[in-house]
Amino acid sequence: ADNGDNLAPTPPMGFNNWARYECGVSEDVMVPNADALVSSGLAAKGYDTVTVDDCWMTHSRDAAGNLVADTVKFPHGMKWLGDHLHAEGLKFGIYEDAGTSTCGGYPGSMGHFTQDANLFAAWGVDYLKLDGCNVPTAQGKTKEQTYRDLYAQQSAALAASGRRIAFSESAPAYFCCQNPDWYRTLSWLPQYGQLWREGWDIAVHGSTNRWGSVMTNYSYNVPLQRYAGPNHWNDPDFLITGDALTADESRSQMALWAMMSAPLILSVDVPAMDATSLATAGNRDLIALDKDPLGKQAARVSTSGTAEVLVKPLANGDRAVALLNRGAATATLTTSTTAIGITGTCTSSVKNLWTGATSTTTGALSAAVPAHGTAVFRVTKGAGCGVTPTGQIEGIGGK
Ligand code: GLA
Repeated sequence: ADNGDNLAPTPPMGFNNWARYECGVSEDVMVPNADALVSSGLAAKGYDTVTVDDCWMTHSRDAAGNLVADTVKFPHGMKWLGDHLHAEGLKFGIYEDAGTSTCGGYPGSMGHFTQDANLFAAWGVDYLKLDGCNVPTAQGKTKEQTYRDLYAQQSAALAASGRRIAFSESAPAYFCCQNPDWYRTLSWLPQYGQLWREGWDIAVHGSTNRWGSVMTNYSYNVPLQRYAGPNHWNDPDFLITGDALTADESRSQMALWAMMSAPLILSVDVPAMDATSLATAGNRDLIALDKDPLGKQAARVSTSGTAEVLVKPLANGDRAVALLNRGAATATLTTSTTAIGITGTCTSSVKNLWTGATSTTTGALSAAVPAHGTAVFRVTKGAGCGVTPTGQIEGIGGK
């Protein structure tokens, strides 16, 4: 579970029930959503990890100290669920907590890391989300050192379990955000796991300001480019495509998450996704940006009023550029090939990743972007041009 295992060379993708169903989790929620990932074609495009979030278990461990799945919610048990997912070519994710109990009040893993890791391995678990509610600060340690110890223990237990289990760490969410302990936490996470929830929860289904929540999580995540890379991903929480977002807002979240190399974990009613939502979450060019093997999180290179420009260097030398319009009316947003790191004089080719349209430019890059929308282009430099080294793109507010 620790650094070097190559468990997530590209950001994990899949489904988690939390933002859509919260504690209303069950086999009857997980199986139809998993099946719909397969039948919709999303699984084949990479959405392959299906994670059962909080509230899957009973309120006490058994006599041997093992966690017990709630048999009303999961009548066939967790091993059966893992087998069902594996038979469909999917991966099985599960939720636990590093403290004494989960956020929902079920038994936590503290003091049971090895036992729980071995149980998860026996069930065929491929991915563990370890939350950080109810962590008592250890004597003689800071809160941040306490979290570090617990996440290190779970990481070691996963590594010793004999199964390859990707590790999603929620520790930084408990130091959110932009304070010294948050940055300290962000600096040790890569030693223990592959991705981390760095900030707030995306507002759940039924909340009234889901777009605001997407923008908040984007804003905290976008300056964290230096923490991201293959096997080490900043996680700004779930995709909520089509659920209380307009089509343009859903496209923005997809574009921004892909630019930021974020995990793409849908938390929506997948069987109910309409054609527009499936086209948004399933956009192959955007998924390719997210999974680009260079694994560079985009840098936000400029902001002006409600307009923001992001640049992501890609493995083949192309540059992806996103133009985000946070404003309430359509606006023409502009940047240039120079601003995205293409040097020299040439004619570059440009692909609009939402429409598929291709064009050329000798410098200007612009688009009429709808309210709360994001235009995304993949730019291939023409003969005679170079690109700045990828390490030299500096984001605003980068730490
Ligand atoms: C926390 C996490 C959520 C979810 C809930 C479950 O709030 O951040 O993603 O796992 O706990 O209780």
